[in-house]
Amino acid sequence: MQDQLNALKLGVEQGVAQAKTSADLEAVEIRYLGRKGELTDLLKKLPTLEPAERAKMGASANELKRQMEILIASRRSQLDQESLSKLSETERADVTEPGNRPLEGHLHPMTKAINEITEIFSRIGFVRTRYPEVDWDWFAFEALNMPKDHPARDEWETFFMDAPVSKKGKMVLTPHTSNAQVRELERGEFPVRMINIAKCYRRQSDATHVPMFHQFEGLYVDKGVSIAHLRGVLDYFAQEFFGPDRKTRLRPFHFRFTEPSFEIDISCGVCGGTGVTADKQKCRMCKRGWLELGGAGMVHPNVLKAGGVDPKKYTGFAFGWGVERTYSMKEGLKIDDIRVLYKNDLRFNKQF
Ligand code: PHE
Repeated sequence: MQDQLNALKLGVEQGVAQAKTSADLEAVEIRYLGRKGELTDLLKKLPTLEPAERAKMGASANELKRQMEILIASRRSQLDQESLSKLSETERADVTEPGNRPLEGHLHPMTKAINEITEIFSRIGFVRTRYPEVDWDWFAFEALNMPKDHPARDEWETFFMDAPVSKKGKMVLTPHTSNAQVRELERGEFPVRMINIAKCYRRQSDATHVPMFHQFEGLYVDKGVSIAHLRGVLDYFAQEFFGPDRKTRLRPFHFRFTEPSFEIDISCGVCGGTGVTADKQKCRMCKRGWLELGGAGMVHPNVLKAGGVDPKKYTGFAFGWGVERTYSMKEGLKIDDIRVLYKNDLRFNKQF
C-alpha cells in the first residue's frame, strides 16, 4: 500500500507541475483527491489490513493528503498571479486618456428669459401668476373695453376654439396676456402687483412674429398709482434686464383698455440711443436711437369696473410685452429673425 501511496504522490506532483491553468489544476485535484478519486479508492482498502499496519497507513495517507493540498493551493495562487500580471499587459488602461464628456442639456433661451424676468419683478414685489391660455372672449376682449365687433379687435389676429359658447362668449387661444388683468382684479386683494407670463397665439409668421409666442403682463393697482410709478418700474426693469445705461421712453399710443396709453421704447444698446455709431455710421440696429418694446398705460376705468374695482378709489398701470422680442433686444444678441428661437436647431440653442 505504501508503494501505491508513493505512486499517487508522484502522480499529483507531476500533474501539478504540468498544469498551465487553474482548470488543469482542478482536474488533477479531482482525479487524485476528489470524493471519487484515487486516494479515496486506496482508503477503502484500509479495513482489509492488519490493525498495526492499518494505523500506520491511515496516518501516512492523511499526511500525504495534507501535503498534496498545500502543493495544489500554492500552485493555484501562483497561476492566479500569473494571469493577473498578464491582464495588466494585455488590457492596460491609459489613465491619462481624456474621458468621454457626458452630453449635458440646458434650458431653452426662452425659459431662461422667463426665469430672469420673473426674478427681476419679484425683487420689487410683483408676484408671478398663471392664468388660462385658452380663455373666454370676455377676459380676452370684452372686459378689456373691446365690445363685440369692435374694430380694435382686428389687431389681435385671434384663433377661435371650436367649443360651445358660454355666457362669457366664445373660447379663444389667448392673443395676449391681458386676459389676466380682469381675472386678477376679481380676486379683490390690494395692492395688485402681478406679473403674468404666458403663451399667446396669433395668426402671424414673419421675421418678427411667430404664431405662438410669450408675453409678460404687469399690473399694479392701488390707491394713488400714477404714470410716475409706471416710469419708475419700466426704468428699473430696463436697467436690470438690459444694463445700467439703458433708458425708456413713453410714446403716446392707443389701446382700448388703458387711458392714457403708450408705446414703450428703450434706448438702443448698440449706439447708446443716439442713432449714430462710434464710427459715425447710422445705427443699423435701431436707425433712430430707440427700439420699440411694447404697450403700456393707465388701466381704463371700464376695466377696473369689469373686475369689480371702484375706479374712484383705485388706479393702476399695466404693460404687456413680448418675451421673444424683449429678449432679442439684449445687447450683443443680434437676433434678426425671432423664428430661430423655435427651430430647435441645436447649433443655435447651444450658444445660450
Ligand atoms: N395687450 C397689449 C398687446 O398685446 C399690450 C398691452 C398690455 C398694452 C397692457 C397696454 C397694457 O399689444
